[in-house]
Amino acid sequence: MSGRLAEKVALVTGAGGGIGRETCRLFASEGARIVAVDVNEESGHETVAEIETDDPGTAIFVRADVADSDDCQAMVAAAEESFGRLDVLFNNAGIMDSADGDSTETSLETWNRTIAINLTGVFLGCKFGVPALQRAGGGSIINTASFVALMGAATPQVAYTASKGGVLALTRELAIIHARQNIRVNALCPGPLKTEMLMSFLDTDQKKQRRLVHIPMGRFGEASEMAKAALYLASDDSSYVTGTEFVVDGGITSAYVTPE
Ligand SMILES: NC(=O)c1ccc[n+]([C@@H]2O[C@H](COP(=O)([O-])OP(=O)(O)OC[C@H]3O[C@@H](n4cnc5c(N)ncnc54)[C@H](O)[C@@H]3O)[C@@H](O)[C@H]2O)c1
Repeated sequence: MSGRLAEKVALVTGAGGGIGRETCRLFASEGARIVAVDVNEESGHETVAEIETDDPGTAIFVRADVADSDDCQAMVAAAEESFGRLDVLFNNAGIMDSADGDSTETSLETWNRTIAINLTGVFLGCKFGVPALQRAGGGSIINTASFVALMGAATPQVAYTASKGGVLALTRELAIIHARQNIRVNALCPGPLKTEMLMSFLDTDQKKQRRLVHIPMGRFGEASEMAKAALYLASDDSSYVTGTEFVVDGGITSAYVTPE
C-alpha cells in the first residue's frame, strides 16, 4: 500500500474517540497498519471495524488502560506480535474530569486520576514504546498535550492543566535523550475541539460561547484537523522536527483580543 505512512505500524491510544479515531482512519488511509488502543472496548472495536471494512487485516484493537503498566507493556507487545514492529506511537488518551476545578475544590482523587491517565499514561507509553521503536531503528512519538499547558485560564481545571504541562516537559526531555537514535518526540497541543470531551464539559450554549469568544477563528476545531497534524508529525515530512509544542488551535494562544 502506498501513502505517507506506507509500511509503518502505528499505535494510537484513545482510539475509540475524537482525535484518536480520526487519526486511526487517516493513518490507515495513508498506508499504516493500526494498533487501536482504548479502555472502552466497544468504541475501540468500532474504530477497527471501520478500517477493516476498507482494508482487511490492517488494524487490531487492544483494550488497555494507559494508567496501567501491565496494559501498556501488553499493547506494545501486541503491535510487535501482530505486525512485527512499531514505528509510530501516538500517546493520545486523556480525560477531563468534570469535578476538576481550582486547588481548593479539586479532590485528591480527581487530581490523582487525571495525572494517572493524562501524564503517567504518556510516561508508560514511552517506557514500553521507546524500546520497540529502538528495535525498529527509530520512529516518531506524538504526545497529546493541550493549549492549556501554555496559558492560564480563569475557568480552572488544575489537575488537567498540570497533567498537560507535565506532558510538555516529558516530551521535551525525551526528544533530547533519543534524538540521536532516530526517534523524534513531539507534543501536539490542540485548541478547543468539537469532540465529546469538551462538548460534555461545556454543556450549555452559554459556556460554549464563553470559550468561543477567545478563539480568533470563531469556531471549535475538528478532531480531523488534529489527525492531519498528527500525520505530519508521524510521517517523514517532519524529519527535522523534534521536541516541539506543535500548536493547532485556531489562534487562541496568540490572541490578546479577538476580532468582533
Ligand atoms: N477536546 C479538546 O478540546 C481537547 C483539547 C486539547 C487537548 N485534548 C486532548 O486530546 C486527547 C484526545 O481527546 P478527545 O477530544 O479526542 O477526547 P475523547 O473523549 O473524544 O476521546 C478520548 C478517548 O480516550 C479514551 N480513554 C480515556 N481514558 C483512557 C484510559 N485510561 N486508557 C485508554 N483510553 C482511555 C476514551 O475512552 C476515549 O475513547 C486527550 O488527551 C485530550 O486531553 C482535547
